[in-house]
Amino acid sequence: MGLWAGRALLAVALGMGIPAALAQTRFPERATAFADKPAVAVGVAWYPEQWPEERWETDLRLMRETGFNTVRIAEFAWSRMEPEEGRFDFAWLDRAIAAAKRHGMMVVIGTPTAAPPAWLTQKYPEVLRVDENGARAGHGGRRHFSFASARYRDFCRQIATELAKRYGHDPAVVGWQIDNEVGPPSFDEESVAAWHAFLQKRYGTVDELNRRWTTEYWSQHYNSFDQVPLHATGQQNPGLLLDFKHFVSATWTDYVQNQVRAMRPLIDARAFITTNTMFWNAGFDHFQMHQDLDLAAWDNYIQEGRPDWVANGANHDLVRGYKQHNFWLMETQPGRVDWAPVNRALDPGQVREMAWQAVAHGADAVLYWQWRPTANGQETYHGAVLGQDGQPNPIQPEIAHTATDLTRAAPLLADTAPAADVAMLFSYDSRWAIDLQRHHKDFDPIKAFTDFYRPLRVQAQGVHIVAPEADLARYRLVVAPNLMVLTEPQAKALEAYVRAGGHLVLGPRSGMRDDADALWPQRQPGPLSNLLGARVAQYYALDESVGITGAVSGKAAIWAEDITPVARDVQVLATYTDKGGWLDGKPAIVTRKVGRGSITYVGAWLDPATMAQLATSLLADAGVTPTVAGADPDLEIGVRAGGGKRLLIAINHGKTAHALALPAGATPAGGDWADGQVAAHGVAWFTLGRDK
Ligand code: GLA
Repeated sequence: MGLWAGRALLAVALGMGIPAALAQTRFPERATAFADKPAVAVGVAWYPEQWPEERWETDLRLMRETGFNTVRIAEFAWSRMEPEEGRFDFAWLDRAIAAAKRHGMMVVIGTPTAAPPAWLTQKYPEVLRVDENGARAGHGGRRHFSFASARYRDFCRQIATELAKRYGHDPAVVGWQIDNEVGPPSFDEESVAAWHAFLQKRYGTVDELNRRWTTEYWSQHYNSFDQVPLHATGQQNPGLLLDFKHFVSATWTDYVQNQVRAMRPLIDARAFITTNTMFWNAGFDHFQMHQDLDLAAWDNYIQEGRPDWVANGANHDLVRGYKQHNFWLMETQPGRVDWAPVNRALDPGQVREMAWQAVAHGADAVLYWQWRPTANGQETYHGAVLGQDGQPNPIQPEIAHTATDLTRAAPLLADTAPAADVAMLFSYDSRWAIDLQRHHKDFDPIKAFTDFYRPLRVQAQGVHIVAPEADLARYRLVVAPNLMVLTEPQAKALEAYVRAGGHLVLGPRSGMRDDADALWPQRQPGPLSNLLGARVAQYYALDESVGITGAVSGKAAIWAEDITPVARDVQVLATYTDKGGWLDGKPAIVTRKVGRGSITYVGAWLDPATMAQLATSLLADAGVTPTVAGADPDLEIGVRAGGGKRLLIAINHGKTAHALALPAGATPAGGDWADGQVAAHGVAWFTLGRDK
């Protein structure tokens, strides 16, 4: 039994009121690095510094009554922790953590570096962020620092060190969050110098940079690295703009690691270090950011209050893929946000649905943002568990229901992770390169990705999203919707996957450019065209749809490529109908068997119905079968497996009840399951016998 377990049981023995269900179930022995924490954390962002201390006990009691077992604290509280340069005050935080512990809470501490205090930016204005137009940020908001500022990093290291020294061995502190949603780059002098150093490291010589970027174009040739401008946008060389993204990724990763390096030696190994990220954030390469973090954590908000469960699920799967491991949902909304054009609240039942969706996709924690709105401050309109009077909002019972269910299901969920036979490859380079030169204004790479993901997820009931470099051996089917940037090593690994019997599917625009965003000399799919035995003769942006006919039939819009088979054993699965146009009769989808594996190239952005037909045939060819047959599209099915267990989770995202044909061996374990149906907006979970 871990320290946390011991302490909590002691608390129960002392009559501190940890709910009985929690006491019995939340501390399974786990062979993980975080042996002390419950299998599922449920909690909330709590900002004790914003409230009179007399209120803390009431808040913590209400949290416990809501079923929470975790609070995330301290992020943004820098001006309270260090009211003047070098004068630290942690006494209030000691008392807040002690109070949380008395109520049986696990604690996640956020380092406060997203919100530098006024004394810091006043005395050292050079740490302030400068935007691309040269405007320096001022005090009053957040994230107004430069990610490259050495002085700012010194201050960050110091405050992170002080926190780690003080709480690094506190058994209640189960994890650490560095900063908060890092993202906006800076264009100050130090950033420019860092950019030049980055380019020098990447290319070695300026001649190599000139070659990779083809700087003979428009007289861009550089004689030295310090001539290269720092730009994120505008009419710049695509090689420069893609490398800007690489630079930002490296700089933010190092910014976070600056704090991690200081903290690691000071905190228990059982406590995780993470940072919280945003949905589909194009700012930096999240795979790179997570390499030296212990787990991924993200903030899931349904901006318009109208969840598209499949699209939201894709983002969870991407976050899981950062470390190919379960993750934490560090923030989610108790009803609504305050930053959408219309801040519509989720419907009754949907907050619970969204929590279970996260868990089905691999979340081991669900934390709400936030507990209670402050009297003033920028986010008073945001959804919260309590109202301004300190009493529960109408959403609180639903959150309490969710927390109780998740805690009850925790022993089943322990040591399990989402199962999938299908992987999709997400490449930041490709996303950026497409966005830099869309060629068709509507070619949104996330929409294109999601259109591929949708039928695969619905039909296969489990998809992992991973980096192009990931080990793919465990997957029957691997789909890369728009792998525009494809490097030689990536191509070699994909070829090896196919030759070992894997089924690889490439979507439009794949294999066109290298990682300096230069065109490959051979036509698409570039370094994989020999394996495919075919090449793209020409690509076309479409302002009207064209027909698709063959093994699948329907329409394609936005983008279409005419594929020329070269090898004799290439099979044409579908052709275009485009009377009088370039594409008429030309191959749209081709496939080639390679031993027991295959490579398929889909040259067009297919409409949803055609994409669904294609998914059916790809899954059948790869031998992927769903766990639940004939599930209604409103019913999300997920399987978590591991530790000798298999657990089926069914979430009804619809407004009416839906029948669920239980697979053999399924036993109801909890939730809204009755008469063979899952209730409207309901959730049900089942055991499926032992893991394979
Ligand atoms: C982000 C931040 C939080 C808060 C929420 C509101 O996720 O991390 O501090 O601003 O948004 O939705």
